[in-house]
Amino acid sequence: MLPHGRPGIDGPPELGGAARSPLLELREVSKRFGGLLAVRGVGFAVYPGEIVGMIGPNGAGKTTLFDVVTGFYRPDEGAIEFDGRSIAGLRPDRINRRGVARTFQKLRPFLDMTVLENVTVAALTRVGGLAAARRVAREQIELVGLTEKTDDLANGLSTGQRKRLELARAMATGPRLLLLDEVTGGVDQRSIPALIELVRRLREQGVTLLLIEHNMRVMMSVADRIVALHMGEKIVEGRPAEVVRDPRLVAAYLGSGFGQGERDSA
Ligand SMILES: Nc1ncnc2c1ncn2[C@@H]1O[C@H](COP(=O)(O)OP(=O)(O)O)[C@@H](O)[C@H]1O
Ligand SMILES: [Mg+2]
Repeated sequence: MLPHGRPGIDGPPELGGAARSPLLELREVSKRFGGLLAVRGVGFAVYPGEIVGMIGPNGAGKTTLFDVVTGFYRPDEGAIEFDGRSIAGLRPDRINRRGVARTFQKLRPFLDMTVLENVTVAALTRVGGLAAARRVAREQIELVGLTEKTDDLANGLSTGQRKRLELARAMATGPRLLLLDEVTGGVDQRSIPALIELVRRLREQGVTLLLIEHNMRVMMSVADRIVALHMGEKIVEGRPAEVVRDPRLVAAYLGSGFGQGERDSA
């Protein structure tokens, strides 16, 4: 038990550790689909300014955990607090308004709308008036490096550009915490370094990040801490350099292929 009396929290010392309040805190969170316990008693915390990575094999429960945190599913058990207040069971738009945004593993832009229109729709959830929403949208489009595509249809974008569009849409809602689901998934290798740079830039904007990422090279280079899930349970949590040496993680996920530093992203 830590000094503030909450189990399962291990904040990084340079961020003040247990003395500093987490931005997001999960305690004993579970989510069931019929007979399948997709998330089992998971607890961890994300501190302001951190980039926390979530890894684990396909089916480990990573996306489900995002769905539960962002209100797409109600947790069957457990507590979820954002900035010290419970968000468990709130509707997605309410949670978004509190300052939590996400991107999706399966991209869902409005394909017959332009980049600007897509981001403006997202911005309208935060700012009133079309002109103000467009202004916010243009800022975010610039931030993610899509300025040249502002008036192009989302339909014509490459996978990497669509990922950037998703980031711009999420950022346009003004989040303090951003959850990214496989932001490098399906993106060609040459585009990955720029995406990593972009993730760092989002943090510099004052956004705290929780990201699901299969590419271990990406994870090692951006994450301050890593949480590993396996069959719905948290099996390891710690610094990237420690986590990759953990026998439980090697057995469950990294296997012998980790030497190459790459995992495919299914
Ligand atoms: N809507 C759903 N209904 C039933 N089972 C689901 C649903 N969503 C996910 N699952 C199951 O929950 C488990 C965790 O899935 P998921 O969270 O997508 O894993 P990951 O993102 O780690 O690959 C899997 O066994 C998956 O088949
Ligand atoms: Mg997933």
